[in-house]
Amino acid sequence: MSPQTPTDEPRVVVSPGRTVLGVGATETVGTYADRHGTKALVVASEQIFDIHGERILECLHDAGVETAVYDSVRPDPTVENVEAAFDLWSEEGCDVIVTLGGGSSIDTGKATGILATNEGGIRSFGVDKAGYEGVPNPIPPLIAVNTTAGTGSETTRTSVLSDESTSTKFIIVSENIVPDVAIEDPELTVSLPKSHTAFTGIDAFTHAIEAFTSVKSYSVTDNYARDAMDRIVDALPVAWSNGDDVEARTEMMIAQFKAGKAFGNSSVALIHGMARPLGAQLHIPHGLANGLILPYVVEFNQMAAPEKYAEVARILGVADEGESARVAARKASDGIEELCEDISLTGYLDEFGEVPSREEYLEVVPEMTQDAFDSGSPDNNPRKPTREELEELFVRVYDDALAPDSRRRS
Ligand SMILES: [Fe+2]
Repeated sequence: MSPQTPTDEPRVVVSPGRTVLGVGATETVGTYADRHGTKALVVASEQIFDIHGERILECLHDAGVETAVYDSVRPDPTVENVEAAFDLWSEEGCDVIVTLGGGSSIDTGKATGILATNEGGIRSFGVDKAGYEGVPNPIPPLIAVNTTAGTGSETTRTSVLSDESTSTKFIIVSENIVPDVAIEDPELTVSLPKSHTAFTGIDAFTHAIEAFTSVKSYSVTDNYARDAMDRIVDALPVAWSNGDDVEARTEMMIAQFKAGKAFGNSSVALIHGMARPLGAQLHIPHGLANGLILPYVVEFNQMAAPEKYAEVARILGVADEGESARVAARKASDGIEELCEDISLTGYLDEFGEVPSREEYLEVVPEMTQDAFDSGSPDNNPRKPTREELEELFVRVYDDALAPDSRRRS
């Protein structure tokens, strides 16, 4: 069981320097950028910039802040994205970073900031090379205007990037990359299509449940995680069904923020460890990969933290107070499958996935297993998987949720 208070050693709780949360929060971007600099590098994907770019530039210009725009961030941002954004930062003489978008833009912005104040290529700051807290100098001021209800990256010390030369993802973790300002405006999420509402919402739920059951969890992060799960269970199906429901969008914005603070201070675990290589192999969005894996890892883990998973089952509404922890915990994975079903999660595989044949998939299972172990995330899992068990979990995901005629897809 996790300690209720950090009695063994003090714990750092990271958080953005300021958070502006609520409808209309976007309007404050100019004020904060002006406080931190004179020329902003705006980092976004083309798609998001097309929707919200004009408004952001207007806010910045009205506040007297000049701008340069890098709008080529792709989903699962790459080393090349970071290098190109940094080139523009240098050429234009920028002094503050404004990210516009979800995790991809924020993580690109953080990494661009690392290059601005530190020596070396971006790959050298990955935890596999530099360890945790491997960024020596703080990045320049970063203002994250969040447009999804899922990433949590605006609250964390983490940046996840893709190394295309090896088709793998790597993670940078440092207190020196936490954003100065997080702008959480639920109105910006109204434009999210249903698919991305589903992906980002399940990503946020995964952050919360992994933080809640991680071996690094404790009372502070538990409270963030519990509240996040409570809100997501109620609000995600509503936000998915009716994207214009600003109340549900606001609940999701608060939930993903709290889930971000939960995992940012206690860590994700096996699901994220498996989702990174699975997502890279299948070229599927991060949240979809999490949602495909989630029920199987929860089923695998529940015996190792029955009280925690019993609470998850009660939050999901599939277990009663009167049931023992062991009995209730076993129901958590069913509750999660129901939540995924409500938002048609596996239905998006047709549009967003490139599912290989079973034979081809089995060939990459050992490699995905190795990548999952190398990420370090399984170390935080309440149940430590053996190599064989992890390989079996990957196969189970294929047979039950990925194969075209599998149970969860039919
Ligand atoms: Fe995530």
